[in-house]
Amino acid sequence: EHKPKAVIVIFGATGDLAKRKLFPSIYRLHRSKKIDSDFAVVGVGRRPWTNEEFRSNVSDSIQSSIKQSSELDEFASHFYYHPFDVTNPSSYLELKGMLSDLDGKYGIPGNRMFYMAMAPEFFGTIARNLKSEGLTATEGWSRLVIEKPFGHDLPSAQELNDEIREAFSEDQIYRIDHYLGKQMVQNIEVIRFSNALFESVWNNRYISNIQVTSSEVLGVEDRGRYYENSGALRDMVQNHLMQMVALLAMEPPIKLETDEIRSEKVKVMRALRPLTEKDVPDYFVRGQYGKGESEEVSVPGYREESNVDPESNTETYVAGKLMIDNFRWAGVPFYIRTGKRMTAKSTKIVVQFKDLPMNLYSNDVDSKHPNLLVIHIQPDEGITLHLNAKEAGGGSYVKPIKLDYCSNCVDQFNTPEAYEKLIYDGLRGDATNFTHWDEVSLSWSYVDTISKAWETHKAEFPNYAAGTMGPKAADELLEKDGFHWWPIT
Ligand code: BG6
Repeated sequence: EHKPKAVIVIFGATGDLAKRKLFPSIYRLHRSKKIDSDFAVVGVGRRPWTNEEFRSNVSDSIQSSIKQSSELDEFASHFYYHPFDVTNPSSYLELKGMLSDLDGKYGIPGNRMFYMAMAPEFFGTIARNLKSEGLTATEGWSRLVIEKPFGHDLPSAQELNDEIREAFSEDQIYRIDHYLGKQMVQNIEVIRFSNALFESVWNNRYISNIQVTSSEVLGVEDRGRYYENSGALRDMVQNHLMQMVALLAMEPPIKLETDEIRSEKVKVMRALRPLTEKDVPDYFVRGQYGKGESEEVSVPGYREESNVDPESNTETYVAGKLMIDNFRWAGVPFYIRTGKRMTAKSTKIVVQFKDLPMNLYSNDVDSKHPNLLVIHIQPDEGITLHLNAKEAGGGSYVKPIKLDYCSNCVDQFNTPEAYEKLIYDGLRGDATNFTHWDEVSLSWSYVDTISKAWETHKAEFPNYAAGTMGPKAADELLEKDGFHWWPIT
């Protein structure tokens, strides 16, 4: 099979993402021989590093994240560092020279992946300069991979998009949502569209509600500066949670092709019941953690964290109800929740089926167990189907049983990291698991109403203790519809 061959240029190569995710992912792609052995990576950053310093940073990053690593020196020898000033055209010209030298050295046919992993305020400037200084005009392909945050609201996202679109066409742009690289998020489609059992009941006649939870144990850590201006709504809901909802709700695509899949996701977003600012309290709940116990250790509240305003109005928790007003989903709430400093690190989807029209086992006190399909995204990966069966022994008692499939229980190491899959897709030119501008803009416009409503009303924060599942109002959100959150552990 033809292996992708390219120079990967990482802007922000001295940063945290490069170190934690990108280098180890490239290493795994190299080791599993998914990319051509003649590859090159150019790290770009403001710090005046040498190639040697950069390479030792790359080796360290791999040693600390991969248990058995070998031939690190050989691997790291493909990495080059270019100290650089974002706004200075001569920096780009030097980079250009370096890239064509590397093309020559490794026999790369002018293929370039420009990976933006630095502060988002520079994304536009970099993209523009790459084009004006001729770095994208090669014989091969040029692609722009762009990290979040993609804007802060619709107007800023639009502005960023306009800037990068001056230099790259939509099909050259790969907007990262790393949840789309997760094994089990990709599995949503397969579970839905390859099982007659599920697809035939995947609608408002049989499903009563769907719950998507993405909880974290960690607090804001050292990201206060970013998070204060973001909050859980922008940090998690606009992208990861809404993407999962789109995959759960979309119609089967005509084919498994990028454009077909994306256009089905876009249709879901268009069918979202729009909120007015006045509606927001009926559909969305926000929370902020106060001090508490996280995994048996006392931890401070959000307002005590560094770089956080002691009177901060920023939410670290969001729960919401999304209604998708189309034929398939009319009347079925999609509940989502996410937050920092919750009880467990876990992402799960629970599909709750409707009760049967009549309960023959009503004498049994413990008889009402709706069927659930649980999709475990992380840390465990798999699915569980909750059914009812006869209890062993006498009587017609019903007992809830579980059919479990765990895909990462046997060998955890086989699951590729989200970033590994996404970088590989980007190198192959498969944009399916990246977000199209239409998805990004629709999700921002949905979320913007909520942030506006929240900005104009100060919240009573903190309203949940660290180490808990969020504010009481999040439970009430479901209770008023006659539902409750299914436990995630
Ligand atoms: C990121 C957010 O996009 O996703 C972080 O900025 C969050 O705040 C992270 O912690 C969660 O990702 P994962 O893969 O650990 O669930």
